Amino acid sequence: MDTPALALGSLLHEGKAKRFHATTDPRLCAVEFKDTATASNGRHQVRLPGKGKLNCRISAQLFTLLEQSGLPTHFQGLLGDGWMLVRPLRMIPLEVVLRNRAAGSLLRQLPTVAGQQLEPPLLDLYFKDDALGDPFLSEARLATLNIVTSRERSQLETMARQVNRTLHQVLGKLALDLVDLKLEFGRDASGQLRLADELSPDNCRLWDERQSPDSPGRILDKDRFRQGLGGLVDAYEEINRRIQTLDLKPRRVWL
Ligand code: ADP
Ligand code: TMP
Repeated sequence: MDTPALALGSLLHEGKAKRFHATTDPRLCAVEFKDTATASNGRHQVRLPGKGKLNCRISAQLFTLLEQSGLPTHFQGLLGDGWMLVRPLRMIPLEVVLRNRAAGSLLRQLPTVAGQQLEPPLLDLYFKDDALGDPFLSEARLATLNIVTSRERSQLETMARQVNRTLHQVLGKLALDLVDLKLEFGRDASGQLRLADELSPDNCRLWDERQSPDSPGRILDKDRFRQGLGGLVDAYEEINRRIQTLDLKPRRVWL
């Protein structure tokens, strides 16, 4: 008997950077990467044609890399350009930030110098809540929120450090310095934690080791938009070009 082909269903959720669509298989969701760039919690927004498909391609390669290293993720395959198939998860409302070097908000909050190496990498947790501005969480606040068990919290931290270690090492070989990154996790139907969302230059800082340390050309991530430097799509193209050389062949699925 033929298996019915997968088809697109209704729009489930529209966020700032992606749209989630149901499919005819309730175990799968189609994610459409948008061409918008937002900063300051969505207050500043522009359309950048080409950005969505680049973030989708970069994410697909990096999810595949992590799956191959044994880390469970939500990634199920690449659909068309700018679209991927994922497992719908019950998301944990945490932004898990790993910092290999001091940059961004850390410079405003601790006496650090831009680019200062952080060894071991610093792991910061934020409560994912747009209305509250994604506040930083202390241990006591995390306990008060009661959104993860202590076992899940330690699993989440181990997984986040593994993701950071793997990506830092592999990207380093492409002369891309992974300065920091933000991760999100969710639980699948069996309760297993999986890495979710996206792995793109929207959610991390990447500095080009082929450029001089003081050159703005070194910045290849969303800081180009945050700092009004322009050239964001060109920078994402450059990251994509280097990452595609890994030739990880993400699974492809046809609708
Ligand atoms: P934002 O929520 O910041 O506006 P997006 O436009 O990227 O960002 O929306 C993606 C939303 O989908 C986020 O809320 C994210 O937590 C959630 N998400 C990511 N992966 C999954 C998944 N596999 N299942 C369910 N929700 C997910
Ligand atoms: P920060 O310097 O603003 O704390 O950001 C640290 C990293 O997390 C950086 O790579 C950007 C990423 N990030 C997101 O992906 N989403 C967010 O909402 C925030 C605040 C940061």
